[in-house]
Amino acid sequence: MKPTLAMINSRRYVLIVILLLLGFHYILRISHESYAKSTSLSRLVEQLSLNRTLLTDPYYNDHRRANATFVFLCRNSDLAGVVTSMQQMEDRFNRKYQYPWVLLNDEPFTDDFKKRVSVLTDAPIQFGVIPREQWVQPDWIDEKKAEVARKVMVWQRIIYGGMYRNMCRFNSGFFYRHELLLPYKYYWRVEPDVKFFCDVDYDPFLFMQEHNKTYGFTITMEEFKETIITLWDTTKEFLVDNPQYVAQDNALGFLSDDGGISYNLCHYWSNFEIADMDFWRGEAYAKYFDFLESKGGFYYERWGDAPVHSIAASLFLSKHQLHFFRDIGYRHEPFQHCPQDDDWSRGRCSCNPDDNFDYTPASCIRNFDRIF
Ligand SMILES: *[C@@H]1O[C@H](CO)[C@@H](O)[C@H](O)[C@H]1NC(C)=O
Ligand SMILES: *[C@@H]1O[C@H](CO)[C@@H](O)[C@H](O)[C@H]1NC(C)=O
Ligand SMILES: *[C@@H]1O[C@H](CO)[C@@H](O)[C@H](O)[C@H]1NC(C)=O
Repeated sequence: MKPTLAMINSRRYVLIVILLLLGFHYILRISHESYAKSTSLSRLVEQLSLNRTLLTDPYYNDHRRANATFVFLCRNSDLAGVVTSMQQMEDRFNRKYQYPWVLLNDEPFTDDFKKRVSVLTDAPIQFGVIPREQWVQPDWIDEKKAEVARKVMVWQRIIYGGMYRNMCRFNSGFFYRHELLLPYKYYWRVEPDVKFFCDVDYDPFLFMQEHNKTYGFTITMEEFKETIITLWDTTKEFLVDNPQYVAQDNALGFLSDDGGISYNLCHYWSNFEIADMDFWRGEAYAKYFDFLESKGGFYYERWGDAPVHSIAASLFLSKHQLHFFRDIGYRHEPFQHCPQDDDWSRGRCSCNPDDNFDYTPASCIRNFDRIF
């Protein structure tokens, strides 16, 4: 049978389609291969530059790391603020140093919370629940009396006057006994919604260790008098029975303008702390905390962990064991410490150096300066 013109044409079409398909296949394969080649090349380049960074970083080089962790007390509802705080800490410091994170909550963290937080770091991260007895108001506290104290403080318009008593007590006397923190010595306390403005290009934990420092801070200020009416008298009562715990060259001059007769309300703002938990675990502080606890002032007033930590650190430690991290830029609403001069430029700080709490009338850093 003689092929008709239509048949010839359709065969031709089939041939053309087959050729086109082969062509496409070839082009796809080539481009895929070169793509794979270029990504593996860029990965190699990435690896090389990472290796170079690690090699030139002295802390990576000898893999020296302190026995330390971040401590982050937060709730599921704090997620947005937890994420921004952690991300800044990772970007500005920890991405290079890989210190572990311990997050604590008074109830279990949700899976969503854990997922959102874990993606921010390559360092180990642990989520803990605070034992009930370390959090809730003890049974022996007279709730009627505590309630009156809360109401009076709200009436006096003290900020957070009716809140946070459990948290202040936990931060004063319990966090460092949590099972997830027992394996560590140093900690850096982080809170939701804080800002870290500058690169931290050295290891503050190793700094503490090498310079024999026990307690580090960035902001100092005065406490609300109404929240600690009897704290100083209670402290003096403790010291009368336990004079042996007072260090020779202590920092009483930071706390008192009259040689210890009265408290000037100055404290290190404890939402930022880089410190040694073995100090809180030690005999002097353990006894001091138990004494304060027995007086019920965490509930009958609102003794904060900031004045409690500050009084203990200033009296039981040598003043040389305290450290002002003037090079770490930090903000916790509504105040910030912005490093000055060389510290500011070296740290590539994003804060305005003129917006700095030091040497404002409400700051206590002058008191710290004057003891040296
Ligand atoms: C980077 O360092 C790692 C570990 O030392 C090594 O296994 C790897 O081969 C290095 N990569 C390059 C591209 O040098
Ligand atoms: C880290 O410090 C804690 C508290 O001092 C201690 O119990 C633990 O043994 C230390 N770990 C290491 C590896 O030195
Ligand atoms: C650290 O300081 C304390 C208090 O001044 C002192 O007793 C101790 O010997 C110092 N340790 C070192 C290693 O310098």
